[in-house]
Amino acid sequence: MGIQTDMFGYHERDPKLGQLFTPPWLARRAAGLLTPGARVLEPGCGSGNLIEAAVARGHHVVGIDVDPRWVEYARNRFSDLSVYNDGFGGKIPILTADFLRQKDFVRRMVREYKLTESLTNPDYTDNTHLEYADFLLELFEAFVGIFPITFEHTQDRDKFWANVGRVTHRARMPERVKFGETSGQIEVECIRVARRYAPRTDGEWIQVQETTWRP
Ligand SMILES: C[S@@+](CC[C@H](N)C(=O)[O-])C[C@H]1O[C@@H](n2cnc3c(N)ncnc32)[C@H](O)[C@@H]1O
Repeated sequence: MGIQTDMFGYHERDPKLGQLFTPPWLARRAAGLLTPGARVLEPGCGSGNLIEAAVARGHHVVGIDVDPRWVEYARNRFSDLSVYNDGFGGKIPILTADFLRQKDFVRRMVREYKLTESLTNPDYTDNTHLEYADFLLELFEAFVGIFPITFEHTQDRDKFWANVGRVTHRARMPERVKFGETSGQIEVECIRVARRYAPRTDGEWIQVQETTWRP
């Protein structure tokens, strides 16, 4: 396999960590599904495309990534406080942590920064995104996620949504979006998911609104 460079030519990505970054146009639209004024956790922030989109809409954001090289990259990207003054002590906190294996640390961050919602485009490998969704619904009433809808990533999906989540907003993209040369084509949709408090009944609508997006 040839040398991989990220879209900024910065360093190699690690395909085992699903390091395929959100195109800026999609990041902007995903950030538009957040509640106005939300204080946002972004697990798996990578190069920071979603952070940039959320901050541009006036949200406070804390980013977490397991890969310290991308944490360093994102910190540098947002180091110009005249442009990116986020209000958390005048900076955007970007921390190295494993979102799924350092849960107590994550819970502390949520409390410390009084975070209210999440925006994420997580690693899809082995349906990891469903584990993200599970933990995010423990942490928050709702989150916005960019999730794959191609078959190999969705085998547990129906069971998952039936038991755990309630889709309150879905915006499906008709196009297949090419995220990177290692991934081939991945079709994704951006959804807003809220906690559910009652078992699902047969006639219940889980899809409240659908919007078709074009890049
Ligand atoms: C699909 S990329 C998305 C990056 C960025 N959020 C974006 O939208 O451009 C997923 C990111 O999750 C990170 N990641 C993978 N597993 C993780 C874990 N267990 N905890 C925290 N970050 C993780 C990867 O390093 C990668 O940067």
